[in-house]
Amino acid sequence: MAKVQFFDTTLRDGEQTPGVNFNTQEKLEIAKQLERYGIDVIEAGFARTSPGDFEAVKTIGETLKVSRVGSLARLVKEDIDAAYDALKNAHNPQIHVFIATSPIHRDYKLEMTKEEILASIQEYVTYARSLFEHVQFSAEDATRTEWDFLAEVSELAIQCGASVINIPDTVGFTNPTEYGNLFKYLKEHVPSFDQAVFSSHCHDDLGMATANAMASIENGALRVEGCINGLGERGGNTALEEVAVTLEVRKDYYGLDTNIHLKETKKTSDLVSRISGMPIPRNEAIVGANAFAHESGIHQDGVLKNPATYEVFPPELIGVKENALPLGKLSGRAAFIDHLQNLGYNTDEREEVNKAFENFKILADKKAEITTGDLHALMTGKAIEESSRYELIKIRTANQEENIHEASVTILDRKSGEEKEGIGQSVGTVEAIYNTIDQIIGKQYTLEEYRIDAITQGSDSQAQVHVMIQTPEGEQFNGTGIDFDVLTASAKAYLQAIQ
Ligand code: KIV
Ligand code: ZN
Repeated sequence: MAKVQFFDTTLRDGEQTPGVNFNTQEKLEIAKQLERYGIDVIEAGFARTSPGDFEAVKTIGETLKVSRVGSLARLVKEDIDAAYDALKNAHNPQIHVFIATSPIHRDYKLEMTKEEILASIQEYVTYARSLFEHVQFSAEDATRTEWDFLAEVSELAIQCGASVINIPDTVGFTNPTEYGNLFKYLKEHVPSFDQAVFSSHCHDDLGMATANAMASIENGALRVEGCINGLGERGGNTALEEVAVTLEVRKDYYGLDTNIHLKETKKTSDLVSRISGMPIPRNEAIVGANAFAHESGIHQDGVLKNPATYEVFPPELIGVKENALPLGKLSGRAAFIDHLQNLGYNTDEREEVNKAFENFKILADKKAEITTGDLHALMTGKAIEESSRYELIKIRTANQEENIHEASVTILDRKSGEEKEGIGQSVGTVEAIYNTIDQIIGKQYTLEEYRIDAITQGSDSQAQVHVMIQTPEGEQFNGTGIDFDVLTASAKAYLQAIQ
């Protein structure tokens, strides 16, 4: 059975979501999980754009051994060189070069003629191929490009050494019939079509990104690009988990295989949601909290008799089932490690496991039953906290008089090793904490979003707070904090956003 390759760009296109900014540690956490999920190619960033992206691409490329790791680059020598410098010691590198090809981009953005675009492909795809064995070429805004020109561009890129040709629907403009026909057209009009893998890359501006990706697969695309949870700017990108589950559930129709480990779906989705600070709507396909919830009596009756009456796949397929034997205060190290391994965590690093076990014991002292959700939060929450520049040491709040709350906060600046403290007031407790942190750091941030979720069901759940802040320069950052105490979780989220 032929296989569809999965190309994940959560760390690049997904990071273009307003307010989503991953640091290297966060990107690495996500990349490791994407590898466990079975993603074939991970786009770790755009090496030339910032030292942070360069470092993330380099670190991920040199850490992952199974998934291929890539960097985006324009058809510009300096971009290609930066991608090469970042990836030269990677285990399994690729470069992804692109140039816009549509009339509107040619005339208004690039101010280049068709001939100049072709010359640029000739020069820089060839150059990229001299440095990388695996070169992917994208014709940005392909779906608004003249089809004959797109065929010419694709053929040239293959002749210059590209082994993957990506056909992006950059502005989410196309529909399934048209996009499917475009792939069919390219198959018929690109002489070397079979020498390359053709790939789809869809945006969701009109809500058709997944449907478009499926139409491309039906018409010859052997690679699909997208982001976990459909992350991305504007309407977002194709949600890869939707494509993966559809290919499995409708294998009878598509007849295609993948390398995806579907049991890792929910965990991957939760991790990306937590680190990006982008919540998953309850009614989201596949990974939403309501995906297996049945409200109407007729449906409930059907599901009790046979779940397949109203569920097209079982929750176990995407790893939703909770552990049969929950962990608790009396559970030993072996049971803890066993649960971590079942959830796909690597337990080879003795020191890391010891630290995680200590944190588990602290948690188990406060909560009778530790669920899968708690374990994921424990494992990823700690890693995120430890990657932030500021660590929360102590926090105290008091109600001074009616409507005046005072907060005293102590933080550690991991960069300078200095402990700093401050006291501030406000009409609300959370605002008092945030004012105090601003005062300690010497910068005033604007709180754009603040949200609390419970990690698990029940009143003994830990709180997960997401914030989005804006710097005085207008940059937006997300942060997530987890704790039993809502105020502590609020402070942790703010400190993580500040980084
Ligand atoms: O949407 C797009 O066109 C892109 C390209 C850079 C591939 O993300
Ligand atoms: Zn894109």
